[in-house]
Amino acid sequence: MGLLIKNGEIVTASERYVADIWCENETVTRIDRNIPTPPGAEVIDATGKYVFPGFIDPHVHIYLPFMGTFSKDTYETGSQAALAGGTTTLIEMCCPARSDEALASFDLWMAQAVGKSACDFTFHMGVTKFDAKAEAQLREIVARGISSFKIFLAYKGAFGIDDTELYHTLKLAKELGVIVTAHCENETLVAERQKELLAAGKTDPGQHHESRPPSVEAEGVHHLMTFAELTGAATYIVHLSCKEALDEAIAARQRGVRVNVETLIQYLVLDKSYAERPNFEGAKYVMSPPLRDARNQAVLWNGLRSGLVNTVATDHAPFDFITQKPMGKDDFTKIPNGIPSLEERINLLYTHGVKAGKIDLHTFVNVASTQVAKTFDLFPRKGTIQPGSDADLVVFDPNYRGAISAQTQMMNVDYSAFEGWKIEGRPSVVTVRGQVAIKNGKFVGTVGRGQFLQRKPSHF
Ligand code: URP
Ligand code: ZN
Ligand code: ZN
Repeated sequence: MGLLIKNGEIVTASERYVADIWCENETVTRIDRNIPTPPGAEVIDATGKYVFPGFIDPHVHIYLPFMGTFSKDTYETGSQAALAGGTTTLIEMCCPARSDEALASFDLWMAQAVGKSACDFTFHMGVTKFDAKAEAQLREIVARGISSFKIFLAYKGAFGIDDTELYHTLKLAKELGVIVTAHCENETLVAERQKELLAAGKTDPGQHHESRPPSVEAEGVHHLMTFAELTGAATYIVHLSCKEALDEAIAARQRGVRVNVETLIQYLVLDKSYAERPNFEGAKYVMSPPLRDARNQAVLWNGLRSGLVNTVATDHAPFDFITQKPMGKDDFTKIPNGIPSLEERINLLYTHGVKAGKIDLHTFVNVASTQVAKTFDLFPRKGTIQPGSDADLVVFDPNYRGAISAQTQMMNVDYSAFEGWKIEGRPSVVTVRGQVAIKNGKFVGTVGRGQFLQRKPSHF
């Protein structure tokens, strides 16, 4: 038995050629022209289609207790949605409350995924408190195969850590070779501006971006960069949304700070006018950092093309429009933050990036797969197509034409932020370690087959 993908145009971050791919025992074992079909092999004809390495989403929330509620997906629903959209590996944020212990939280998050995920997964370990006990437990979690931390400079009183904790988290990360992913917004400024806006009677979703303007995010990045410079730790700024924040990261990089930059598909294709829609519709578009002025989109696309921005994620955090977003009906600070998009990242990036001429095919693969794998210690098992790599493959039909709708999505949430948007191209076949998981948009894989990916730190 084995899987033979014939005549596809293989596209990696650096190469593009037509060949057959033979997969055995969950890995790619041969790439060649005209590979004869072994007896019993499953054959997929990829003529006229691209074959990409499975895409990796580096920033996902599946299990997320947040703002008084829980995000909607489970691993059963979220992993199938990921696969339908061409994402074969997801990196979830393990986000303990400050009162929770790190190890118990890690076990809790693992229990959500093991035996339930249809795609492979790993975690960034959230550091929401740092003391001697937390430090000992973080060392144990790294020994169990986690090589990245997550910290929040935002969300005062919830996930946010103070500067002493930030300093010691970065020092520990540097010692262990762990990369630190960070949500960068100045939490004091956010909290004070929220109070002022509410006191002035400004309660609607459109106030969300007023409470956290670009300078608030830029200050968060600058703050993290100062700590990274003094500790030497490797950092990764999650969900960077605007020019002001990117300028701070570039300035730090120029003075030798180790920093990677992630943006989100939402910031590339949406702008803040969506959050200003009347009749509370804007709540569908409330996330943090907020959607920005449209001028930032060109900055981010150019950043991807030139390598200043390294990866594209989703920060998938689904909350229902009918029952959960209205928690903030009379107070925008209580709207659960998040714009679901795990299923749509690749199709939107292809349609609005590649087809629109903003990025080429290699950049597309790089920012949504290869660079993620390299940064988070998954390469070359994931992120490329070569003998020895996991047979996570996306056969992508560039001629498909369709539209996005909540009616047809697999994500477990009652709306789509992209309702009615046209897409050009989509994955027609998606494999997870040699097993077909998606065929013509339908899930045909195995719930629970997804593996926890153990990673070894490399950022010394
Ligand atoms: O709005 C967002 N980003 N929701 C998820 C939590 C986070 O900050 O990543
Ligand atoms: Zn965040
Ligand atoms: Zn997030």
